[in-house]
Amino acid sequence: MCDFIRKHGHANIGFATGSTPLGVYKYLIESYQKGKVSFQNIQAFNLDEYVGLKPGHPRSFASAMKKDLFSHIDIRLESIHVLDGSQQDMDQECQRYESLIKNNPIDIQILGIGMDGHIAYNEPGSPLDGMCHVVDLHQESIESSLDYGFDNIQDVPRQGVTQGIGTIMKAHQLIMMAKGQKKAKLVEKMIYGEVTSDFPSSVIQNHDHVLVCLDQGAASQL
Ligand code: GLP
Repeated sequence: MCDFIRKHGHANIGFATGSTPLGVYKYLIESYQKGKVSFQNIQAFNLDEYVGLKPGHPRSFASAMKKDLFSHIDIRLESIHVLDGSQQDMDQECQRYESLIKNNPIDIQILGIGMDGHIAYNEPGSPLDGMCHVVDLHQESIESSLDYGFDNIQDVPRQGVTQGIGTIMKAHQLIMMAKGQKKAKLVEKMIYGEVTSDFPSSVIQNHDHVLVCLDQGAASQL
C-alpha cells in the first residue's frame, strides 16, 4: 500500500475495522512516523458502521478508525469518509455514500471476514451485486461486537449499515486479511467453496485482483 501511495501520490483507500487489520494500521503509522509515506493526498472510506451510533460515539467504527489509524497520520479530516449510522433517513445516507464512492473509485480495499462469512456487514443472504444498505445483524456478528469494547450484549446495536458486496467488488484491488485458527475453516470455504450469497466472502473468488493475507492459524486448513 505504501508503494502504491508513493508511486501515485494519491489514492482512495477503503478501510475495515475489527481486530484483524490492526497490525497493518500499526505498520502504516510507523511508516508515516519514519517519513516513508504521507497520507495528505489519501481519501479514506470506511466499510461499515452501526446504525444508531453517531460517528463520534466511542463504540462507532468511525471512532475506532480514528483511534487506530487516522489520528496518528497526516490524513486531512475532510478526506475521511464514513457512513453515518445516526442519520434519520438511512436510505438517503446510503445513496450519498454510494455516489461518493462512484465518484471516487476505491483503489485498494482492506477486508476482514466475519465469523458467519460476512464481509463488511454483508450478512449471509446479502445479494452479491448489492449496494450500500442497512442490515439486521446476525447473532454471530452481535456477539463478535463484544470484542469491540461494548460492555454487554444489550448495548450492541441490532442493525448495521454497510457498503454492499457490489460496491466492494468495484474496488480495483482487494486485500482480504484473516488471523487465527478460529478463521481457518471460514478461509478454506472462502477460497475453495462455492461462490454464494449464503457465504458472502466467497465472492472474492470473482474479483480479478485479490491479495489474501493469512497468518499460520488462518491458513491451517488450506
Ligand atoms: C466485523 C466488521 C467487518 C470486519 C469483520 C471481521 O464485524 N463489520 O468490517 O472485517 O467483522 O472482524 P475481526 O477482524 O475483528 O475478526
